[in-house]
Amino acid sequence: MTTDHYCVFGNPISHSKSPLLHTEFAKQTQQDLSYTAQCVDVNDFSSAANKFFEAGGKGLNITVPFKHDAFSFAENLTERAKRAGAVNTLFLNKDNSITGDNTDGIGLVTDITKHLEWTIKNKNILILGAGGAVRGIVEPFVKESPNSITIVNRTKEKAQQLASDFSDIFSIQSCSYSELAERDNAIAFDIIINGSSASLSGNLPPLPDNIINENTCCYDMMYAKELTPFLEWAKEKKAPSISDGLGMLVCQGAESFFIWRGVKPETKSVIQYIRSIL
Ligand code: ATR
Repeated sequence: MTTDHYCVFGNPISHSKSPLLHTEFAKQTQQDLSYTAQCVDVNDFSSAANKFFEAGGKGLNITVPFKHDAFSFAENLTERAKRAGAVNTLFLNKDNSITGDNTDGIGLVTDITKHLEWTIKNKNILILGAGGAVRGIVEPFVKESPNSITIVNRTKEKAQQLASDFSDIFSIQSCSYSELAERDNAIAFDIIINGSSASLSGNLPPLPDNIINENTCCYDMMYAKELTPFLEWAKEKKAPSISDGLGMLVCQGAESFFIWRGVKPETKSVIQYIRSIL
């Protein structure tokens, strides 16, 4: 039997933890596979992906900046990839066609509900940011039946557009940061998710005090060895539970692994392992 090959495409890619986590999953489930990382030229996604599959590759993970290229490249798309407008997983079908899926949102929801044991059902959720990362998580959140979802963004029009794009499945509120501070009957949210890229540049969006109280759980989709500025803010406000996005990363990987191999790896120990070597 030959060893099946998988890879993650991105640019840059040297920071990627995907080879590490998929190698752990393979060991754990005794799957015969190899998984590498490839830095792809920004104008060369299609030809690199074609080359990979022509050489017998079985599946790809896709990271920044190629999730939209992968969306266009895929011959078929799953419903959740269509909703997300982006693809993070490509897989080869028996007829050699290639399907694009998106496991980012389900990865986040799995980390929140299974590992952190936060409840989404009937809760009031605030999401910061309205870019590609947030678009990918909206539908899996809606599926958990929250009481409300509010999207706040620096550029309010993008939050409005996102809310409008999901209006057939949920009535999402959208606002700017100043409007968030001025809400009439200002309730604190139950869960706040930072899906903006502010943490990447060491920034914190302008968050009013009335959105958080001692029951508000806070999640940053970025992960880092140190607390992100958003999680520092949450800690200072005495949030009862805070988490960065390492669990989301591992859980989206586990979903991709399941799509490719039909086996669900255990994720908690892999999160702990990667955390220990950050
Ligand atoms: P990604 O794919 O990571 O979502 P993106 O599509 O470029 O990247 O979106 C980045 C998001 O982070 C946007 O919502 C952006 O706000 P704007 O739409 O107003 O640009 C948000 N963002 C980036 N830097 C920010 C900052 N310093 N404060 C608040 N929001 C920020």
